[in-house]
Amino acid sequence: MTTPLTPAGLRCAHLTDPLGVAPDRVSLSWLLAGTGHGRAQTSYQVMVRQEDGTAAWDSGRVRSSDQAGIGYQGHPLARGGRYTWRVRVWDEHENPSAWSEPARFEIELDPSGGWRASWIGLGPVREEFKPPAQAGPSDPLRHALGPAPYLRRDFTVDQPVAWARLYVTALGLYEARLNGHRAGDAVLAPGWTDYAQRIPYQTYEVTSLVREGENVLGALLADGWYAGFFGFDAKRAGAHYGPAPELLAQLVIGRADGTTQWVVTDGHWQAAFAAIRHADLLMGEQHDLAREPHGWDQPGFSAAGWRPVRVRDRDGRPLVADPGPPVRVTAEIQPVSVSQDGTGRLIADFGQNLTGWLRVSTPGPAASVRIRHAEVLAADGSLYTDNLRTARQTDEFAAPAGPATFEPRFTLHGFRYAEITGYPGQPGPGDIVARVVHSDIPATGSFESSAPWLGQLFRNIDWGQRGNFISVPTDCPQRDERLGWLGDAQVFARTACYNRDVAAFFHKWLDDVADAQYPSGAFSDIAPRLNVPWAGAPAWGDAGVVVPWTLHTMYGDTAVLRRHFAAMTRWMDFIERDNPDYLRTRNLGNSYNDWLAPGADETSPELLATAYWAYDAALMAEIADAAGYPDQAAGYRALRAKIGAAFAGAFLAADGQLTSGTQTAYVLGLHMQLVPDELRLAAAGHLVDAIRQAGWHLSTGFAGVGYLLPVLCGTGHTDVAYRLLEQDSAPSWRYMVDHGATTIWERWDGWTEQHGFQSAWMNSFNHYALGSVGEWLYRFVLGIDQGPGGAGFGRLLVRPHPGGSLRAARGSYRSVRGLISSGWQHDGGTFRFTIDIPPNASACIRVPSSDPEAVRDGTGGRPAGIAEYPGRPGVREAVFEVGSGAHEFAGPLRWASPAQCFPAP
Ligand code: BGC
Repeated sequence: MTTPLTPAGLRCAHLTDPLGVAPDRVSLSWLLAGTGHGRAQTSYQVMVRQEDGTAAWDSGRVRSSDQAGIGYQGHPLARGGRYTWRVRVWDEHENPSAWSEPARFEIELDPSGGWRASWIGLGPVREEFKPPAQAGPSDPLRHALGPAPYLRRDFTVDQPVAWARLYVTALGLYEARLNGHRAGDAVLAPGWTDYAQRIPYQTYEVTSLVREGENVLGALLADGWYAGFFGFDAKRAGAHYGPAPELLAQLVIGRADGTTQWVVTDGHWQAAFAAIRHADLLMGEQHDLAREPHGWDQPGFSAAGWRPVRVRDRDGRPLVADPGPPVRVTAEIQPVSVSQDGTGRLIADFGQNLTGWLRVSTPGPAASVRIRHAEVLAADGSLYTDNLRTARQTDEFAAPAGPATFEPRFTLHGFRYAEITGYPGQPGPGDIVARVVHSDIPATGSFESSAPWLGQLFRNIDWGQRGNFISVPTDCPQRDERLGWLGDAQVFARTACYNRDVAAFFHKWLDDVADAQYPSGAFSDIAPRLNVPWAGAPAWGDAGVVVPWTLHTMYGDTAVLRRHFAAMTRWMDFIERDNPDYLRTRNLGNSYNDWLAPGADETSPELLATAYWAYDAALMAEIADAAGYPDQAAGYRALRAKIGAAFAGAFLAADGQLTSGTQTAYVLGLHMQLVPDELRLAAAGHLVDAIRQAGWHLSTGFAGVGYLLPVLCGTGHTDVAYRLLEQDSAPSWRYMVDHGATTIWERWDGWTEQHGFQSAWMNSFNHYALGSVGEWLYRFVLGIDQGPGGAGFGRLLVRPHPGGSLRAARGSYRSVRGLISSGWQHDGGTFRFTIDIPPNASACIRVPSSDPEAVRDGTGGRPAGIAEYPGRPGVREAVFEVGSGAHEFAGPLRWASPAQCFPAP
């Protein structure tokens, strides 16, 4: 049964119906619904209309199978303009679909001319205040934290309202309010950029909140990344970008008579300090609920005693529509237990290490409640907070008599446990709830298998991503750091793309990366850059090339390559300038090398740096080709050849040994194709030797870990890959899971039975880098992958790699072409494999078998060919070519004995 091929799920700039898109980011995509086999789009037609219905762009019928990354080519898009669009497609039989349901997008305001508003705030006012915990005469918090201003303005609308948009941002964080309601549901808005270079704003559709008659527009303001504590420079006491938060807002109301009314931030606003005594991302929030000015954001409120605001004109910094997804509260978690210690303190365990905050309701008596947050417990059952360094993660509230509810807005805590002191009585169900906060990025991946612990590992990887993707990809959400480290993002980017649709999120962050690039061409170690001048570190700065290439590979996106091509070129020039002999030995910045590799496994920094440079050059050639710059592609191929020759000359012996015998050295040499074909097997053998010598343990840090299992499978050592995966003694992924991890730890030995906690100075239990093994689960265990050079999942290379003690695995990835689902079962004799290929995609399927000629598809069809499956004696692959639809395969699969698979010692 075949249903018509129908476009649905329309998106612009990787978002659904965005209300603010820069004109040069308008890029359209759609999914295709349609059952049956071999479905394909042969043409499309896009129609974009202005608000008055006139055509802005009619693409006409375009012969193309592309359904993502369609750049707008119509009349110039108007600043602030509103557009609707539809698409129709022609299928494999040239049958046209109906037009899709309409989608819409609105164009970003002119970055300076589109704004009539001025910055307003109360300035750096500090009031007498008692910091949370650790207070002492020299406590930096005493002078650094202050109350959060409430700002308001009354206005009258004298006609019925046709439409209304609120454009708003802050230097700091804001929550905008209109007539007693929150505008939108974003939290921690406007997010974090280098505010000295660009300031993101949000647009809210607020037609239903504005009414004819009296109205109030209001906002709460807090320090956030702009003026609060951030990073690990405690002495600086926050204020990285400025001393106090400010608000910028303009409400534009379309009136019945066709005119517009503007309400903007200016000298007509009033402000006051009230219930929020302080609010800081790292330190926490303190509320005096008795001081809440009820009704302050509604008409009829008496603002007597409120102060006039300070007004500051806008300067030249561009205001840009935030290209990323908003941060939101995405889930609530009830505690799995609440226990009480001898002193009456409650310890709530949420069963999951997460990022967010608590909502706490108290039943009646006046109370003064303190909430501390921690990821783990100490041996005596109290919170372990040593690893937070100077971050206090402490919220406090004073509740007057009567039922009360406290919930912070402008802070963020990384925790599984909370200690609650001063709670009056016993909390009932729903009184203590964890609110999960992160960039609201839709999940695109799933994985489960016959090994429950592996499902937990998968969930830990995803929770690590959720807890750290907060406006920028941060290293950790709990201690005084929470920075956008490029190395961490570089190693995790592909896993992140499989787990969740991070296209818009990374697009936004890559602008931060470009903003942070130094005039020398060096990419900084962190972006946004804050006040640390570090740059150029191998595997960190290389993110400036690897991450755009990853987005291209996963989303078929070439716009991102063109947008950042000049920055990438400057980076390549920066490296080459100082390393004319094609070994990257100079200007390595902080050279974190294979960061946090366990034990004494020290890879040569020059080897690692040169390998990454070679990788950059190879990717730059692919990038230049995809972006349409063939001359540069040729140049980068030539550069890659020179680096490859220099690498071999300096680091590679005739027997395939590398001068550093570490696992990471071999992994990088093999992954980055720096070992010539004739030595690959030998080099892979040395890698396996190194693993055996480590007692079948891995010894890779951040730079090597993501490629370890893919390299083992790619060189015929799938058994060794599974042996590392299933290893249950430290260092291993399983050790973390078996010892209660619900996220990925920063260090392999974050906690061990022998030594307890690692150094408190650097020991986060929520760092995603070591979770970069997630990519292997999708690409190798499930086999959901593309062939070399593939981009955008139009053409798949599906090669499941069963192994270890797994008897079954299944999972999926929702690609830009649609959902790809894979599943297999292996009973020791027969291997059964199912795969769903979305419309407009095709796949080469390779099914491992001990008798590949005997493998059949669901209709009894025979393989189109037989291929080698290195490393498994007696196993080859049955090859099938398929189009879209559901497919199944079955055939005999018997493993050789493990002794044959593991090389003799
Ligand atoms: C961060 C890392 C980061 C590293 C650089 C640490 O403090 O937490 O994840 O990549 O520094 O060495």
